[in-house]
Amino acid sequence: MRPDPHSYYDTEQAAVRSLEMKLDVDFSGRRLAGRARLDFGVAARSRIDLDTRDLTILRVNDEQNRPLQWELGDPDPILGSRLRVSLPHPTARIDVAYQTSPEASALQWLEPAQTKGGSQPFLFSQCQQIHARSMVPMQDTPVVRVPYMAEISVPEGLTAVMSAGPEGSIRGHRPGMRTFLFRMPQPIPSYLLALAVGRLESRDLCDRSRVYAEPETVEAAAWEFAGIEAMIQKAESLFGPYEWDRYDMIVLPPAFPFGGMENPRLTFLTPTLLAGDRSLVTVVAHELAHSWTGNLVTNATANDFWLNEGFTVWAERRIIEALEGPEAAAMSYGLGEIRMRNALDRFGEDSPYTRLRMDLDGVDPDDIFSEIAYEKGSLLVVTLERLAGRERFDRFIRSYMDRFRFTSITTEQFVEFLRSEMPDVAGQVDLKTWLYEPGLPPGRPEFRSEELEEVTRWAARWPEGKRPPQNVIERWTPQDVLLYLQRLPQEMAGSDCAWLDENLSLTGQGNYEILVAWLTIASSSGYEPALPRVREVLTEVGRMKYLRPLYLALGRHGRTRDLARETFAEVKGTYHATSRRAVEEVLAEYPA
Ligand code: BES
Ligand code: ZN
Repeated sequence: MRPDPHSYYDTEQAAVRSLEMKLDVDFSGRRLAGRARLDFGVAARSRIDLDTRDLTILRVNDEQNRPLQWELGDPDPILGSRLRVSLPHPTARIDVAYQTSPEASALQWLEPAQTKGGSQPFLFSQCQQIHARSMVPMQDTPVVRVPYMAEISVPEGLTAVMSAGPEGSIRGHRPGMRTFLFRMPQPIPSYLLALAVGRLESRDLCDRSRVYAEPETVEAAAWEFAGIEAMIQKAESLFGPYEWDRYDMIVLPPAFPFGGMENPRLTFLTPTLLAGDRSLVTVVAHELAHSWTGNLVTNATANDFWLNEGFTVWAERRIIEALEGPEAAAMSYGLGEIRMRNALDRFGEDSPYTRLRMDLDGVDPDDIFSEIAYEKGSLLVVTLERLAGRERFDRFIRSYMDRFRFTSITTEQFVEFLRSEMPDVAGQVDLKTWLYEPGLPPGRPEFRSEELEEVTRWAARWPEGKRPPQNVIERWTPQDVLLYLQRLPQEMAGSDCAWLDENLSLTGQGNYEILVAWLTIASSSGYEPALPRVREVLTEVGRMKYLRPLYLALGRHGRTRDLARETFAEVKGTYHATSRRAVEEVLAEYPA
């Protein structure tokens, strides 16, 4: 049986029980080359199917170094190529000698010009959802979890980091190379495998956390994330002990396509979080929260992605509430609501991609990625929390983690657990509608906060020409400004754009959330003075969450479509493959 539509893994076959990689990082050839050792823990029989994408397989050997027969299937556009290894005799372990392709979908190779320092290249991986297979041949499904070890050889002067415990470095096996050693003793799903290589320095933030970044940004990063220990402690008081030993972070170059990625022991972050005022640390709260919801209790397949993200958004906002108070959490839900509505508009309310539990046979998860799993998912969790009451729900969450720690579960397993632990609560929610129907379910929780209401009111009065006075604006937090921009009409007259820019000092913003919310309005309004800044952002930043709305907004009217097309043609080579695909999809929808 194949439990995951996005993997060739077959439950009739042995599951990999541990993974060991020895890889050379070749920047000039843009390849990883070496071998992966897959240990089954038992003698596997007959054959093993592995997931691969764009890999060159050189040899497959058994534990006695005898060559095994293997066959690489025709590439499927979503799954990649099945590597079928024949096992004529019981085999406990195989070694696969291979190399990756320069086009590997998990890897982004940056030119020195794409880094702050400008002198050395950079490499980072992004394996979620199904890209690990382009980096290592493996059973690339969260159903299978493995501990791993790695030896990564990189050019002298560069540093390698992974989603694992660092075990130091030794002289490389070739002159001019250094080998970094890693060990991840806990079993993780393949999408949490992660590697970054570059000119890196680090700063300790507390006993269990340090931040890595290029030397030019490491001080700013250390300042921005200085509050991490307090955040970990709050999270522990809510969800139980932090299980992963260290919680390190790395600030990547701006081409990184996400805000953050919860790679265990080493969260990956976009440099756009370095606002200089700690106003964007919610992303860190989110990635940290995944240490429980996602990394400890994991979705079984991309169909159950909401279990990862819905619970994590809820958890992130509980951390924010504990640190900053209920108003801040309500503001986050307020911001999320519009993002969710935008996602619903994108697919249409009846689209199956607005369901929580998905059915993604034949669908590439990257193509339907949206805020639905996040926001609708978190609203379901809040609904359960409110029905149960805080204390009881917090106990429920603890027992949920306890029951499923270090396992990967389906939506149905969650429902069954909920029904057995809190049958009364489960009985009061229309779980069928919440989980299996598209669109927004009725009876969603509401979030009341004076701050949220005041800012929403100011935005609602915009069409009548009412503007917030300076003394009101001065009191606004970055969150308030963001919410205000998000709730304004997204197309307005040039004079209104000018008013906004001047009174909220927008074009010079260091907070990228605010900057992009503003530039989105400016772009759909064709507001000329802001267009050079739009172009700069599209050139510098590869974060998908920013590229999509900006390209969409530029496409709304003929006057800015050429700017969008020309900018994309010029810089697409610097975007991550997933970002490039997402933008191509947006451009293809432009009217001719
Ligand atoms: N795990 C996600 C990122 C992801 C999801 C990568 C699906 C690939 C496929 C991560 O935890 C995330 O949600 N990041 C958000 C930040 C957040 C605060 C909502 C992002 O990158 O914007
Ligand atoms: Zn997340």
